[in-house]
Amino acid sequence: MINEMILTAGPSITEKEISYVTDAVTNGWNNDWNKYLVKFEKSLAEYVDVKHSLSTSSCTGALHLSMLACGIGPGDEVIVPEITWVASASAVAYVGATPVFCDIDPVSWCMDIESAARLIGPKTKAIMPVHLYGHPANMPAIMKLARDNNLKVIEDAAPSIGAEIDGKKTGSFGDAAGFSFQGAKILSTGEGGMFVTNNDEIFQRVKSLNDHGRDPSRPLASVEVGYKYKMSNLQAAMGLAQMERVEELVDRKREINAIYQDLLSDCGAVQVTSELDGCKSIHWMSSVELLGFDYDKRQQFMNKLKENLVDSRPVFSPLSSLPMFHRTIENPVADRIGQSAINLPSGHNLTLEQQEHVAKVIKSLL
Ligand SMILES: Cc1ncc(COP(=O)(O)O)c(C=O)c1O
Repeated sequence: MINEMILTAGPSITEKEISYVTDAVTNGWNNDWNKYLVKFEKSLAEYVDVKHSLSTSSCTGALHLSMLACGIGPGDEVIVPEITWVASASAVAYVGATPVFCDIDPVSWCMDIESAARLIGPKTKAIMPVHLYGHPANMPAIMKLARDNNLKVIEDAAPSIGAEIDGKKTGSFGDAAGFSFQGAKILSTGEGGMFVTNNDEIFQRVKSLNDHGRDPSRPLASVEVGYKYKMSNLQAAMGLAQMERVEELVDRKREINAIYQDLLSDCGAVQVTSELDGCKSIHWMSSVELLGFDYDKRQQFMNKLKENLVDSRPVFSPLSSLPMFHRTIENPVADRIGQSAINLPSGHNLTLEQQEHVAKVIKSLL
């Protein structure tokens, strides 16, 4: 019997998280101030298979530092997919560069390569693929496009820890990448992020920039204006506990998606997110396209879901429709998905009964 709102997200907290955070708050000071930070960074770098990692206060901060360390600045253009959280494009704007928006693939909802290629011009300095809702963007093709055109690649890997293409993890393809551990993410530290790279020079630059531009050889001496996007040891304690359970957390998200696919397989009016060949999506947010819907119809549908105790979130609108950005080319797939798709309840603690209720309500409303 469903008598409470079924929420879209929710973390998975066990005794492990509680005991690590309790240890950090009790003992993680003075000489042990960074014990969990070091372990969390190391364990994520090993898992993603990258050389360097640096914890940050958010993925947005990690992306901002990536832009700076990759030398992106005023007058430059960075290609970003239309459908993503605004943070991707904001990081570009922070350094005075301009995000130019390409279309998305109709299955993965990630960057469409041909559309991205059309946007490359003399001002283009970088490409920012986004692994949207945990599906990997087509990184082999994006890396080829970037290398052929001498462009940097900064992966917005925010919601994608554990996602893979042919066994290689997101975050390990580009020049730099950022992950998010904000409260609703698959792996959470409350708020938080992680910068990763295989490039020694970029890493050293990010480390210094994230430490107020300090000269590592001279204590407390800044040599330029820097930033401070740091994570605390307390958050890292939670992050380490979640990292040690990452496979379980990924498997559970994939299971939730498989159940939705099964429950909604006989409903021709919706298309549940799936994955492209060779890709492993972690399905951070299981989502559906409501075929033929526009903004108004979607909003009415979401209101009705809520009346039936099913919470949902609209898929991001095309970023070029926001007042601070503008459109360069037509992006028809993004326009369609941006007004007709929603995220379904996808929290780790969702029960089968709740998923059956969600599917039943969707079918009865359509
Ligand atoms: C695609 C994408 N990029 C960036 C972010 C920003 O992450 P954070 O909130 O950690 O800055 C998010 C968070 O939801 C996201 O989904």
